Amino acid sequence: MTDSPSQAEIIDMLRQHVEAGCTDMLADAPINHFDAPRDETAFAAVPDTAPSAPQNQMSEAMPAAAPIATPMATPRAPSDNHVNTAELAAAADDLPALRAAIEGFDGCALKKTAKNTVFSDGIEGAHIMLVGEAPGQDEDRQGKPFVGRSGQFLDTMLAAIGLNRTENLYISNVVPWRPPGNRTPSLDEIALCKPFIARHIALAKPDILLLVGNISTKTLLQTDIGITKLRGQWQNYEADGLSIPAMPLLHPAYVLRRPETKADVWADLCSLKKRLAH
Ligand code: URA
Repeated sequence: MTDSPSQAEIIDMLRQHVEAGCTDMLADAPINHFDAPRDETAFAAVPDTAPSAPQNQMSEAMPAAAPIATPMATPRAPSDNHVNTAELAAAADDLPALRAAIEGFDGCALKKTAKNTVFSDGIEGAHIMLVGEAPGQDEDRQGKPFVGRSGQFLDTMLAAIGLNRTENLYISNVVPWRPPGNRTPSLDEIALCKPFIARHIALAKPDILLLVGNISTKTLLQTDIGITKLRGQWQNYEADGLSIPAMPLLHPAYVLRRPETKADVWADLCSLKKRLAH
């Protein structure tokens, strides 16, 4: 009799780790990611993921945005890091400079566990810019946003209305580094990274923003209203002197988990396509 586990036991243990979200071997010593700061109230009630989709070509007559009455909860006092990201972002005069600034920034703990900084994919200067939440495992490995299962699903939906990242779509995320175990980014992490995505939008100058999921919608629209209420309704992204029509969409990962929401996404994409055709 030996103390060594059998192959079947090892596989079983590995499976349990994967199911618990331990998908990466990063260090010899264990890290308790549950100790990471996370405000469960500010982005709360988020059915844990969010929305998806969008397209190209400009439309002149965008509808007036429905007003968002509720300000976003729990603003934090800016830390030095926050000041740094705002200053760093502001100093970038174009997208390559912003990419270099983010890749060179070491003030976010997420970067330490990430394999890559995920900056963007698609066509710089496209009329439509889609902003998701944060990279997952596949995105972290490949260094590109939305390339995993939910990203492929997103691509399929977008293709149905003529949008794709090789011709007419630009894609990024609120947070450029993968949160360990694909957890939701904390409020502090979002606040730290927000100047980067705000500058990214200002430099990319899209005519339309597609805000995919709860985190993207709440962060960029500065609202506490959840994605399931806002999805499909035109809003305005207001920052840096810009006012950009923005469509909140359900996150593809959410739709994959709740297939009954597919009809909602299709309805939102159809209304987007109709608007873009004008
Ligand atoms: N989910 C996101 O929000 N962004 C990605 O890049 C991948 C999955």
